Amino acid sequence: MRVLAIETSCDDTAVAIYDSVQGLLAHKIYSQTTIHKLYGGVVPELAARDHLQKLMPLLNDLFKQLKIPKNSLDGIAYTAGPGLMGALLVGAAVGRTLGWALGIPTLGVHHMEGHLLAPMLEAQVPSFPFIALLVSGGHTLLVEVQKIGSYKLLGESLDDAAGEAFDKTAKLLGLGYPGGPALARLAERGNPASYIFPRPMTDRPGLDFSFSGLKTFALNTWNNSTQTEQVKADIAYAFQAAVIDTLVIKCRRALQLTNSKCLVIAGGVSANQLLRQQLAQLSQKLGIEVFFPRVEFCTDNAAMIAYAGCQRLLAGQSDDLSIKAQARWSLTELS
Ligand code: KG4
Ligand code: ZN
Repeated sequence: MRVLAIETSCDDTAVAIYDSVQGLLAHKIYSQTTIHKLYGGVVPELAARDHLQKLMPLLNDLFKQLKIPKNSLDGIAYTAGPGLMGALLVGAAVGRTLGWALGIPTLGVHHMEGHLLAPMLEAQVPSFPFIALLVSGGHTLLVEVQKIGSYKLLGESLDDAAGEAFDKTAKLLGLGYPGGPALARLAERGNPASYIFPRPMTDRPGLDFSFSGLKTFALNTWNNSTQTEQVKADIAYAFQAAVIDTLVIKCRRALQLTNSKCLVIAGGVSANQLLRQQLAQLSQKLGIEVFFPRVEFCTDNAAMIAYAGCQRLLAGQSDDLSIKAQARWSLTELS
């Protein structure tokens, strides 16, 4: 089965074609960073308008590159949520309409299910069941995965998502947008001995997270400092270390509580090198397997939506002719 996917849930316009026999044929991403940079964060209305301008040319490029006709497709998957409503509607309207015009099954895919299944695009894939840590700009979720569609929520962030905490802390340190990768780069120059930040909610049982206090801790530390470039790097180091340690502690706890031997990490923050290193160490220590997507598929992309959509279409699922978009949509509502 050959599936075209469209992803427009936030600030990346992305398209991909996945073939269940040949694998990923191609994918393309157009990033809106330059537009939102001016405002220090994603402006939903501008995101939607830009998706509207870029999506059709990107689709045409994809078909031109692959030299395949649209009628060689067997199905269409588009991100139906969660995300920015106006942005989602662009991909949903184009995906659903193209599916209708070609007379092929079409399906709205859950963005976080896409992230969760992104490691399946690699040569070495995890086998079910496993524990997944999903860490993006909008979500921090620990999920017990029995199989596709069977997701038990073990823990989540009670306030800011991990990526959101990176972005907000980067912004208050004047690192611009997008902040997560910039903060991680700056942390490389930080002195580990300068500051120790708290590891929130690790001193009590449970698998929930809370990251918003760390941002305030960073701000107070900065305001009470000499405010040099080195101090900025030291704060970035301490902040990153606290977030990553906290994620790793909770992963370890989730593995032990569920007696699992396999961990999957996905979502934008899974691109973080310190997180990848620390989880590789954990995997050695506990004798468990850890799977990440390649860095390119950690952040938003359509390859993951194509893979997730293809699995569901192969299982015989498809939507009716309505255009599906949900700003809020829990992963546990899936079946
Ligand atoms: O999955 P994603 O592309 O979009 C959402 O679904 O939210 O995740 C984007 C998030 C942003 O908050 C970004 O700052 C964060 O992932 N991120 C990182 C890194 N690369 C991206 N955070 C920390 N370190 C990184 N290297
Ligand atoms: Zn995402």
